[in-house]
Amino acid sequence: MSHIKDSINIRPTRLSDIPSLVTDCLNPVFLERQYLAITEAIPVSEAMAYHAASITSGNPHFVAVDGERVVGICDVHPTATRIAAQQHNVTLGMLLLPDYRGKGLGERLLKTTIDACRGKWERIELGVYSHNERAHKLYSRNGFIEEGRRRKAWKLDGVTSDIIDMALHL
Ligand SMILES: CC(C)(COP(=O)(O)OP(=O)(O)OC[C@H]1O[C@@H](n2cnc3c(N)ncnc32)[C@H](O)[C@@H]1OP(=O)(O)O)[C@@H](O)C(=O)NCCC(=O)NCCS
Repeated sequence: MSHIKDSINIRPTRLSDIPSLVTDCLNPVFLERQYLAITEAIPVSEAMAYHAASITSGNPHFVAVDGERVVGICDVHPTATRIAAQQHNVTLGMLLLPDYRGKGLGERLLKTTIDACRGKWERIELGVYSHNERAHKLYSRNGFIEEGRRRKAWKLDGVTSDIIDMALHL
């Protein structure tokens, strides 16, 4: 089992983290084109505005930082802001830089974010690609239940995967 440095902290995201969050963490993982809906770098100003608005509106939003550098993120946002009957749902997203995966950091980030949702929302939902076994295992181990499978809904460069819809009822 590989160990992770003691200098890595998980804490609520600060507005001052956002430049590193976008350039050091989000965009490199988007460019892996394997795990997330977005498969290209997004303009820094656009991403910064989105995350700043989410933090300011009080959505649980956490980073893993190695020194000053953001190496992971886990956040939730309301699933359907305009639908009165879905105000109890949030959607979760998370990622780590490659060097920080497989060491239990994802589980720490996920548990922290789930705890921050308790008492505020009733249901956390997400979609995970069937080729992303590590993420699927992590969510299952932490109480997320598979609710449906959109068969071959992911297709990139001729390769297909299912999108597995999962949810945790708090
Ligand atoms: C998905 C992702 C967030 C999971 O985070 P992670 O830290 O890699 O995963 P985990 O926390 O489950 O840890 C993985 C392994 O580290 C091991 N590990 C090592 N040290 C550990 C420790 N101190 N504590 C706990 N687990 C530890 C665990 O045994 C676990 O292995 P297992 O699942 O075979 O039992 C991460 O791999 C990632 O960012 N992937 C790319 C982006 C992505 O897929 N995002 C999700 C889209 S739905």
